[in-house]
Amino acid sequence: MISSAKIQIVEDEALIALDMKSKIESLPGFVVTSLTASGEEAVLAAERDMPDLVLMDIVLRGKMDGVEAAREINGRFGIPIIYLTAYSSDKILEKAGLTEPSGYLLKPCNDRELMVTVKMALYKHKMEEYRRKAEEAERLRQEEKLVIEQAKISAMGEMLRSISHNWRQPLNALGLIVQDIEDAHKFGEVDSDYLSEFVKNAMAEITSMSETVSGYRNLFKPDKQKRPFDIVGEVDEVCSFLHGQTRSMSVDVRIRHSGIAAIYVTGYLNEFRQVVLNLMFNSIDAIVERRRALSLCGRANPSIHVGRITIEVTAQDSMAILKIIDDGGGVPEALGGRIFEPYFTTREQGKGIGVGLYVSKVLVETHMGGRLYFENVENGAAFYVALPEISAQPAQNDKQ
Ligand SMILES: Nc1ncnc2c1ncn2[C@@H]1O[C@H](COP(=O)(O)OP(=O)(O)OP(=O)(O)O)[C@@H](O)[C@H]1O
Ligand SMILES: [Mg+2]
Repeated sequence: MISSAKIQIVEDEALIALDMKSKIESLPGFVVTSLTASGEEAVLAAERDMPDLVLMDIVLRGKMDGVEAAREINGRFGIPIIYLTAYSSDKILEKAGLTEPSGYLLKPCNDRELMVTVKMALYKHKMEEYRRKAEEAERLRQEEKLVIEQAKISAMGEMLRSISHNWRQPLNALGLIVQDIEDAHKFGEVDSDYLSEFVKNAMAEITSMSETVSGYRNLFKPDKQKRPFDIVGEVDEVCSFLHGQTRSMSVDVRIRHSGIAAIYVTGYLNEFRQVVLNLMFNSIDAIVERRRALSLCGRANPSIHVGRITIEVTAQDSMAILKIIDDGGGVPEALGGRIFEPYFTTREQGKGIGVGLYVSKVLVETHMGGRLYFENVENGAAFYVALPEISAQPAQNDKQ
């Protein structure tokens, strides 16, 4: 089980110390890293050698006694301690017990006692370390799961925002149609022609609202399997879904995929859509922020239009590259290194939780083997999603 170990001895009686050293080193694989006689020296030696275990005399001459040295070594470096004691008062033993040592050895001790106690302490420590590591890994896994869950909730909030934007226009139209029937009735215009026109118009609006909802459900239907999909088509899809929102905010979205009709990559389609949506929402948010900042400092110049998102899809060196460029002012230099951290956000309380980019990075890099990164450009930011491309189809004629 334990076949080698580095052991430090702290003992101010030289003969006892030497005797213990030779007993320990008689075992193959076991070395004594240092023999020290004072607490202060022991702490320094432990820091230098990082032994696996320290045998510590409880009573040491000098300012720092064995218990204090042990507390320091165990607390700072996590090294387990076995106390050596000849005769100690209950008070000292009680104080020593508070430092949770891995064992005690009564001096003088025989070979067997020494080796059993040392090996047990090493074994126990190793087991504890395994357990700690497993717990830590589990904690990280749970944390990541939580962040992804939160991102889903946050995305759902954003989706509702889009749906309500998409519904605004048909809802208004429907309101007008319904109001009109009252007037029409008053003026005796309600005949069967009027009614069928009424039903046709109202149904058109209702259909458009219902399509928004089913579009949403199709767009984010969970995928069970990775499969090839065309990112050119998918980007179009997500943008048309966002159209109601971008139009009502006068954000001008342009898609360029000059020369390419389709670029296929492999992955979970709904995750890719989620990434595009996260990046689009970030750009829209940045644009809204910048507009507000400009109007607050009185520099709102109506001839300067803020609100353009350009999307480019290209294929290069067997990578498909999606680039989303906005004019929302970019990421301040000092924050650039942090925006992909979970929970990092510059948005007002309640507006963002700061998981969009973190989750997008996990989806692109861990799930799809790609890369997500950004750079600041003139007046804004450009975010890149690079994915291993499986095939590209040139367009018949340039599609702009
Ligand atoms: N296109 C962009 N332009 C400028 N800053 C950006 C842009 N995209 C992201 N950022 C910055 O990065 C931060 C983190 O973005 P992220 O998408 O992770 O979180 P969030 O948008 O703040 O909140 P959430 O996405 O969880 O709703 C943002 O708060 C913002 O400061
Ligand atoms: Mg975001």
